Amino acid sequence: MKNIVILISGRGSNMKALLSAELGCNIKAVISNKSDASGLAFARAQGIPTAILAHRDYPDRESFDAALSRLIDGYEPDFVILAGFMRILTADFVMHYAGRLINIHPSLLPAYTGLHTHARALADGVKIHGCTVHFVTPDLDHGPIIIQAAVAVLQNDTEALLAERVLQEEHRIYAQAIRGLCAGTITLGDEGKVINHNLPLPGQALISPSLPA
Ligand code: GRF
Repeated sequence: MKNIVILISGRGSNMKALLSAELGCNIKAVISNKSDASGLAFARAQGIPTAILAHRDYPDRESFDAALSRLIDGYEPDFVILAGFMRILTADFVMHYAGRLINIHPSLLPAYTGLHTHARALADGVKIHGCTVHFVTPDLDHGPIIIQAAVAVLQNDTEALLAERVLQEEHRIYAQAIRGLCAGTITLGDEGKVINHNLPLPGQALISPSLPA
């Protein structure tokens, strides 16, 4: 069975969703760069080992990332899962975990990389928005896409309402992605594209606003 380590910084709702799902892997540890990350208590209550590595204790990004990878590697993970880990990672760190470092981003990449994705989607008036699970590469929010979920943007949406609907989908697709990676039914091909070996059923189109009945 594959081993994973999950990194968080805050509330950890994606981490909770992963801990509550049948992933078919061993969750070796949850690591946070913040001691007050509320997700840590949930992980401990589930009997998952937790560790805190405060970035403020390190003089620069390089030394923190080096310490973080030493900590992570102690758990010998097959995959390292970023679940709201609010740190920009050095290229050295990312390359050390090439093909093994996974992130979830609250937009349909390659649209809306970076922060404030929901507010920017609303400001642009897009009618479909969503979330993406992807492999991490040194180019921020640009790695090979594993799975995406789309939601309709509604007429009276606020940033909070849209974020909540996207978050629900994050919780579903993150578990699906990790399950597939750990089972080996999702792999990263030589050309840097993700291959799904379980031939998926065709998805249904999401049309927003919907067509008249
Ligand atoms: C999520 O929206 C995720 O897509 C982004 O950071 C947020 C983390 O939320 N990377 P949570 O800590 O998992 O609740």
